[in-house]
Amino acid sequence: MTILITGGAGYIGSHTARLLTELGRDVVVLDTLERGYRDALNDIDLVVGDIADQRTVGKVCRKYRVESVIHFAAYKAVGESMTEPLRYYQNNVAASISLVESLLENEVTRIVFSSSAAVYGTPDTAPVNEDAPVRPESVYAQTKADVERFLGASDAAGLTSVCLRYFNAAGAHESGDMGEDWSATENLVPVVMKVLFGAQTSLEVFGDDYPTADGSCVRDYVHVSDLADAHVKALDYLASGGKSLICNVGTGQGTSVKQLMAMTESVTGRALPHHITGRRAGDPAAVFADPTLMRAVLGWRATRDLREIISSAYRWHERHPDGYDR
Ligand code: UD1
Repeated sequence: MTILITGGAGYIGSHTARLLTELGRDVVVLDTLERGYRDALNDIDLVVGDIADQRTVGKVCRKYRVESVIHFAAYKAVGESMTEPLRYYQNNVAASISLVESLLENEVTRIVFSSSAAVYGTPDTAPVNEDAPVRPESVYAQTKADVERFLGASDAAGLTSVCLRYFNAAGAHESGDMGEDWSATENLVPVVMKVLFGAQTSLEVFGDDYPTADGSCVRDYVHVSDLADAHVKALDYLASGGKSLICNVGTGQGTSVKQLMAMTESVTGRALPHHITGRRAGDPAAVFADPTLMRAVLGWRATRDLREIISSAYRWHERHPDGYDR
């Protein structure tokens, strides 16, 4: 019996695939490789294909005797989602519906879904728990909220699901041979690394006049290997008969941009060139998780701290300045 990982050649998917194989679980990855990397998978079974292709999904389910799914495959660039909304609804929402249809046809009834804390938009308070209103502020976030709703409704069709609302995924595999490709993202940690390794001259700090302790924005950075572990716990929860669930995945610890910069300089012993610019549109001042539910129901908690996030990312980028070879 095998776990199907859609989008398993991407950043979080590949770390999850690696962890599951290390735990002795059988895994198959389905990925178009449009934004994923074969090299992120080593010798893990990969089927190059689209989740919206029901023939392919059906074949994979039967050939590998798939028993559960972790569904990562999606576009995730917030800015791009605003300029290409149809592409995002098609690829993230319509394709997910098609995938679930194929899964149910093949009697696969357990799914873990890669959602995002972006569904909360600008929360009224932090820490944010799962009862906070869902108020997406981008097409990307809306597509995540839409799939959550659809999965919830699919309970009636016999599907059970865990939707994991990730906070800020960061860091890299401890081996130093898997990580995030900085050419494919504008998230803070990869941008910091770009600056350290000279691919960008200076870090733009988007505002230092927020109502936070040091004026810069506060986020909840969670190590990608801890995130991978959250998926394993979610799968096990469903396998033991757990009901559908929506859960935050964060550390519960808020870190400001300035604190992250200071940690980077301390870990690497290098100065981080930076300058303060204006606020980025749509950036809330402080967002961090209330991780109580995840701890209580799934028994998960983050075990890696900010120091490990920075040191692992540094190790990966130092060894792979050009990311994975295409
Ligand atoms: C972003 C997305 C969110 C997505 C999440 C994880 C937006 C508005 N939100 O969250 O939907 O789920 O990534 O992929 O894009 N920062 C700088 N300089 C930089 C880059 C970032 O100061 O060059 C600051 C930002 O203002 C923010 C923090 O660093 O305060 C983290 O930014 P980022 O990594 O982009 O994540 P989020 O904006 O939290």
